[in-house]
Amino acid sequence: MIELSDLTKRYGAKTAVEGLTFSVRPGVVTGFLGPNGAGKSTTMRMMLGLDHPTDGEVRIDGRRYAELRDPLTFIGALLEARSVHPGRTAYHHLQCLAQSNGIPTRRIDEVLDLVGLTAVARKRPKGFSLGMGQRLGIASAMLGDPRILMFDEPVNGLDPEGIHWIRNLMKRLAAEGRTVFVSSHLMSEMALTAEHLVVIGRGRLLADTSMARFIEENARTSVRVRSPEPERLREALEGAGLAPARRPDGGFEVEGGDTARVGELAAEHRVTLHELSVERASLEEAFMRLTHGTVEYQAHDGGDDELG
Ligand SMILES: Nc1ncnc2c1ncn2[C@@H]1O[C@H](COP(=O)(O)OP(=O)(O)OP(=O)(O)O)[C@@H](O)[C@H]1O
Ligand SMILES: [Mg+2]
Repeated sequence: MIELSDLTKRYGAKTAVEGLTFSVRPGVVTGFLGPNGAGKSTTMRMMLGLDHPTDGEVRIDGRRYAELRDPLTFIGALLEARSVHPGRTAYHHLQCLAQSNGIPTRRIDEVLDLVGLTAVARKRPKGFSLGMGQRLGIASAMLGDPRILMFDEPVNGLDPEGIHWIRNLMKRLAAEGRTVFVSSHLMSEMALTAEHLVVIGRGRLLADTSMARFIEENARTSVRVRSPEPERLREALEGAGLAPARRPDGGFEVEGGDTARVGELAAEHRVTLHELSVERASLEEAFMRLTHGTVEYQAHDGGDDELG
C-alpha cells in the first residue's frame, strides 16, 4: 500500500503537485492518468524518495522511503528517464542493484528469464532496442521481489507483443496481491489493464475511483438499436421523448436511453429489432471530458470541438 497525504511539490513559483491525498491499494492495477505536465512523474519520484516533497508525505507500507531497509525489496519502479550505466552489461547492472540491496544473486537469472532477456544478459544495454531497455527496467523493478511496483509509462514505444506482455505481467502481479501503480497516456491500453484510477490535472486530484465508475460518471453511454423498419422505430422512440440519431449503418444511437426501455418500446409498437446493444463510452472520452480544463499544453486546431 502506498499512502499520500497532502503531498505538495513546488519548483520555485511552479507548483507541480498540490495537496495530493490518496492511497494505492494492493490486489488491483491502479492507473495513474493526467495530461502532460500534470505531475505524475513528479509524484512517482516523491514516492521513491528521489524528490523531496515541499509539503505532505508518502508512506510505503506505513513507512517513509528513507526508513526502508533494502528498499528494492519493498518497492520496485520503472521510471520515465531510466539510468542504466551504458558500459555495464544487463547482468552486471542487475548485479550492482542486487548487491546494494541485499538481494541474492540467483534472483538475477530469475528476473532476466522473467523479462525474456536471458539471451542478451551479457550484452551492454547501449545496444538494446527500446523494448529491450524497457524489459531491463522491469527486471530491475522486479529484482527485490517487492510487494509494491510502480511503472511510469511502461508501454511507451513498445510493439504490440511487448504491450501485451506488460499488460499481462501487471495483471498477474496484482492478482498475486501486490500493489501495482502505472501511468500511461494510452487510454485503450489503460482501459484493458487498470481496475482502479487516480486522475490528476495541474497537480491536483481530479478522480480516485474504479475504472467502471469513472467512465460511467464522465462519459455518456448510449443504446444502439437497428430495425428493418427504421421509420416506425424512430416514431416509437420519439413518441416516448427519446432523441434517436441516425447511424451510418442505418440504425440509431439513443443517448440517455437504456436497452430495457428501448426494447420495451419496440415491443409495444411491434417493431422488429435486428440489434439492441449498449454503446459504452471509452476511457479516452471520459478522460478528455474530465481533464479538458486542466490541459496545460494544448494545440489549437479546433480538434477538441466535438467535446462540447
Ligand atoms: N525539476 C524540475 N524543475 C522545474 N519544474 C519541474 C521539474 N520537474 C517537473 N517540473 C514541472 O512540474 C510539472 C509536472 O511535471 P511532471 O513531469 O511530473 O508531469 P507528468 O504528469 O509526468 O507529465 P508527462 O505526461 O508529460 O510525463 C511540469 O509543469 C514540469 O514542467
Ligand atoms: Mg511524466
